[in-house]
Amino acid sequence: MKKLAIPITLLALFGGVWLGVVAQDAPKPAAAAAAPAAAASAPEPQVCFESREGATQVTQREIKPGLPNVRCSPTTGAALWYGDPLDGTVPMGATANLDKASEANAFIKPRAEQMKFLATCGTACHNGTYPKGYPKDNKPVPIPTMVAMMPELATFQHGRGAIWCLDCHHATKRDKFFDHAGNLIGFDQPQALCGKCHGDKLRDWRDGIHGKRTGDFTSTGKKRWYTCTECHNPHNVQDGVRNRGFVQIKPETPPQLPRGMKDARHEKLHPIPH
Ligand code: HEC
Ligand code: HEC
Ligand code: HEC
Repeated sequence: MKKLAIPITLLALFGGVWLGVVAQDAPKPAAAAAAPAAAASAPEPQVCFESREGATQVTQREIKPGLPNVRCSPTTGAALWYGDPLDGTVPMGATANLDKASEANAFIKPRAEQMKFLATCGTACHNGTYPKGYPKDNKPVPIPTMVAMMPELATFQHGRGAIWCLDCHHATKRDKFFDHAGNLIGFDQPQALCGKCHGDKLRDWRDGIHGKRTGDFTSTGKKRWYTCTECHNPHNVQDGVRNRGFVQIKPETPPQLPRGMKDARHEKLHPIPH
């Protein structure tokens, strides 16, 4: 009798665990199912992102009856599919050092409209004058208003201490960048800004080795060029221990251990040294 009782107890225990797991997973599909229902009842437009969440937003709309400009992933909110790859783009225009690349068939998505603070930056605070207490070195003084607006700037990570705000942003015209000759660069041509220090990357981007293009792939076809800041956040390219290119992604939690296994210590006893 006792022999039988143990497996039953175990079954009850693990059954409970299994039920617990199912219950944990359950809200996910339920929430996913609820989302389209909510969208149907409220006329709120669906907004998804392209390369960077919160910085490359696209609002879904119809470009023709029944044809949306973009379709968003219901699970991640990322753009999955385009009705027209050139939708929302403008001609890239002449860009310094790009030779023949910026002909009439190169298109970009404007960055300025994605900026939250740009419209006010150059008028409300930085209105053509240096702010009081303007720092003379490359250690920005954390001003509470700035920290509140863009918290990530308090720990600015680009250039390993070699560059700071006014190596990119124009000192008195804050809605512009500037090149080494002092010429102004708009927010919609970040390649001209980045290219002043990363000339090799600008050349690769021009030649289609770095970055991304979509559209008509015949040699004379119209293409959308993804600009540098659509992928890179210029304020934190050297984040964390990896310190290269992109903000580190927090690892997902480890998978559930198989039944009966108390910990994953056996993984440390790998037979093949590596
Ligand atoms: C490497 C060049 C570079 C440096 C250095 C830099 N920025 Fe920027 N900053 C940019 C670019 C490029 C953009 C536009 C980003 C985009 O298109 O997503 C921007 C955007 C901004 C914006 C507008 C954000 C918005 O949503 O409207 C603010 C404010 C700003 N930067 C402040 C700062 C401050 C303060 C510093 C110094 C701590 C700094 N930046 C350093 C390149 C730089
Ligand atoms: C004023 C010069 C300057 C400008 C302008 C500039 N950068 Fe940088 N960038 C640097 C320096 C310096 C480093 C650090 C390189 C190093 O330590 O090897 C760096 C590092 C980087 C890195 C990390 C590379 C690595 O090897 O870790 C990326 C990505 C990057 N920049 C992207 C951009 C983008 C995108 C722009 C335009 C928005 C830009 N940079 C504009 C000077 C600049
Ligand atoms: C479609 C997205 C995309 C675009 C557009 C883009 N990059 Fe990158 N870039 C990347 C990726 C992905 C990496 C690899 C980063 C890594 O290894 O962490 C990278 C790496 C870099 C690096 C670091 C290279 C290294 O040796 O580690 C620099 C600097 C850089 N990009 C600059 C630029 C500049 C300047 C532009 C615009 C002319 C640009 N990028 C456009 C996605 C992009």
